[in-house]
Amino acid sequence: MTAPLFLRALAGEPVERFPVWMMRQAGRYLPGYRAVREKVPFLTLCRTPDLAAQVSLEPVTRFDVDAAIVFSDILVTADAMGAPVVFEDGGPRLTRPVRSAADAALLHAPDESRVRPTLEAISLLRKALPASKAVLGFSAAPFTLVAYLVEGGTSRDFNVTRRFLYQDRAAFRALLDRAGDALVPYLRAQARSGADALQLFDTWAGVVSPEDYRDLVAPAIARVIDGLGADRPPVLLFPGLGASPVLEEAAATGADALSVDWRTDLARAYARVGAKVRLQGNFDPAALYAPIPAIEARVRAMLDAVPPGRPHLTNLGHGILPDVPVEHAEAFVSAARAYRPRRT
Ligand code: CP3
Repeated sequence: MTAPLFLRALAGEPVERFPVWMMRQAGRYLPGYRAVREKVPFLTLCRTPDLAAQVSLEPVTRFDVDAAIVFSDILVTADAMGAPVVFEDGGPRLTRPVRSAADAALLHAPDESRVRPTLEAISLLRKALPASKAVLGFSAAPFTLVAYLVEGGTSRDFNVTRRFLYQDRAAFRALLDRAGDALVPYLRAQARSGADALQLFDTWAGVVSPEDYRDLVAPAIARVIDGLGADRPPVLLFPGLGASPVLEEAAATGADALSVDWRTDLARAYARVGAKVRLQGNFDPAALYAPIPAIEARVRAMLDAVPPGRPHLTNLGHGILPDVPVEHAEAFVSAARAYRPRRT
């Protein structure tokens, strides 16, 4: 039996069509998701395996995307590590941010009972889906997890985090290692539960300088990927918003694919990373507000930038926005599925 299209492309094999899925594809723009969320709070949804699996399946059954990503959140792990998280209207908030080495010492490997629902949701997805669809597990990458732990919530520049990084570099490095070491057993458990590939979200890594990325961020990612062992599933890395300047460093972490944002020039990105890694992306999520024919034309133009013979993983450059019309998301996926890669 041939492997799913998504995994063949991820392995660098030539493909007859580029696989497609959308970051944050199970979310508020979907009526089925909204109906579930009217009944249960966000964290309850993350912690109820059959509901989590149900919302993960909605984009697959609706749009025929090539991969399902398990429904959870990168901060469910922070909570399981001993840093309580509340989800409020303005976004997630950590009630006890980590601001010192002593705070960091209180963090532990994710509590099995807290992450078990996500593992169960992965098994349910693997059972529910045909072999042609890939099931994706995920976690934050170390820097982004640490950024939330330190900052206590979302921020524009993550100034508290960058301040910590400069005030006590050794403690910051230790915190990155601690976060990474805690993520490894969780990611391995996702693979054992049926995840065919794992995506690491380093959403905020673009806030640091290239020097700090090289010295701190990239080694922490490499440590996680190494820690997964030789039998690991393929790893996709979202190097972060605005991380284009450090694409080469991200490509050297050992990740099989980089998920690039829309500010990254795709043709140049291919030239920069060569055949060493695959690329995923990078449609501007806001371009899904364009009229449907414009979305279709933009998808084709984006994919025309892929060098002949390279298997691209079609996706958005970041998560889908909550009020995108469903038909526009559908048009994006259909146009991606209809595209035939150039051979020469
Ligand atoms: O991709 C999927 O469909 C799977 C589910 C998923 C969620 N969050 C669900 C979610 C995934 C993969 C994530 C990852 C995540 N969470 C990231 C990395 C990816 C990225 O977008 O950069 C980040 C930075 C977070 C942290 C987070 N979670 C924020 C900042 C917010 C609030 C802003 C927002 O989008 O609402 C969340 C909440 C969240 N996570 C929601 C969903 C569907 C919305 C919660 C709701 O239903 O109200």
